[in-house]
Amino acid sequence: MTDVKATNITWHEGHATREERQNLLKQKGCTLWFTGLSGSGKSTIAFTLEHALVQRGRLAYVLDGDNIRHGLNKNLGFTAADREENIRRIGEVAKLFADTGVLTLTSFISPCRKDRDNVRALHVAGGIPFIEVHCATPIETCESRDPKGLYKKARTALASGKGMGFTGIDDPYEAPSSPEVTLDATATSPQEATVILLQYLEKQGIL
Ligand SMILES: Nc1ncnc2c1ncn2[C@@H]1O[C@H](COP(=O)(O)OP(=O)(O)O)[C@@H](O)[C@H]1O
Ligand SMILES: [Mg+2]
Repeated sequence: MTDVKATNITWHEGHATREERQNLLKQKGCTLWFTGLSGSGKSTIAFTLEHALVQRGRLAYVLDGDNIRHGLNKNLGFTAADREENIRRIGEVAKLFADTGVLTLTSFISPCRKDRDNVRALHVAGGIPFIEVHCATPIETCESRDPKGLYKKARTALASGKGMGFTGIDDPYEAPSSPEVTLDATATSPQEATVILLQYLEKQGIL
């Protein structure tokens, strides 16, 4: 649990409403939360969808795991506590982005169901659509693609008896129990995945 250290603070309500911002942007904000193993296609699909949305005249933005760890979360590692804090901060940032009216896409492994469910609850409480996209690409596909060479590293570490706490190898991944969308990047191209997500957003009245 996160320690609450902030005291003597009061929520200051703004005067411009979410509706006014939506009218300005001619779109409704939401968060599409991509979760899945390393190499399951989260970043590739999220950035492809972002591009497609922007080309259609929609303001979209990806908060990407590795990119966020270069800045905002550069002081966090991969222990259970740091992973939790990583997701908590991103959940809060995504909610703020979506509240401004941006179609917000996040691509983080986010292996803990509880952490993702907390982010969902935050969005539900704020009346902001939360769409969990499970990149359920099997580990065999992820490991054979190994775009960053991390599975190879993790296997070597494991063989040497040290391990590196790598999700799917020697750290758990808890799949979502009822994600809004499930994709498998083995046989679905990033473009096909993007079409599926665009259709979902249209069906939900978000586009
Ligand atoms: N259908 C697909 N969808 C997404 N990625 C794919 C697909 N087919 C092949 N790839 C490749 O798989 C890798 C996925 O990596 P990435 O998107 O960085 O995953 P993640 O962000 O989940 O770690 C990339 O090298 C990408 O080019
Ligand atoms: Mg990624």
